Amino acid sequence: MKGDFPKTSGLISKRIVKFEDLVDFCLENDEVGLNKLVLKFYAKVVKDDLIGPIFTDTLGKDLRDAKWQAHIELLTDFWASIALGDFTYRGSPFAPHVQFEERLSIKAFERWLELFFETLNSIYEAQIAQQFLAKSKNIAGNFIRNLNIT
Ligand code: HEM
Repeated sequence: MKGDFPKTSGLISKRIVKFEDLVDFCLENDEVGLNKLVLKFYAKVVKDDLIGPIFTDTLGKDLRDAKWQAHIELLTDFWASIALGDFTYRGSPFAPHVQFEERLSIKAFERWLELFFETLNSIYEAQIAQQFLAKSKNIAGNFIRNLNIT
């Protein structure tokens, strides 16, 4: 996986092409952007035995479906708000997780982080990957505390 496409030197772009073209494009080509990060991450997530079902029960199994499209766009905006200071994301990151609280565990969050780090490391150079990594660890820690899970 690692090294099969060039890493970005530091510039993070938000949207590159229209969503309709993006799923195949991102999974196969060299462009590097938050949309690609999010897509590649969820492509891993849906195949994961532990956390995949939590996502697929909510959003379906096919990343091309409308629910996934909305989620991927939302999460691209979410990471753009963090990485770029973009103000498009106006959601509430924590709220939706309460609905599947009983299916969440420390182990599930560890897996989420592991898959996210894997994706980050395959796309960005270490310095950028580290920045995302620190942010996501922080947010996951807050979620874990707020959800009161073990
Ligand atoms: C095991 C861990 C996690 C699971 C299973 C999970 C699952 C999900 C699912 C299924 C949704 C869609 C909910 C819906 O549309 O009804 C969602 C939304 C979301 N998740 Fe997670 N998530 C996890 C961890 C995280 C972490 C660590 C972050 C941030 C670093 C995060 C950020 C978000 C955001 C921003 C949304 C959208 C919130 C909104 O509606 O504005 N999630 N998550």
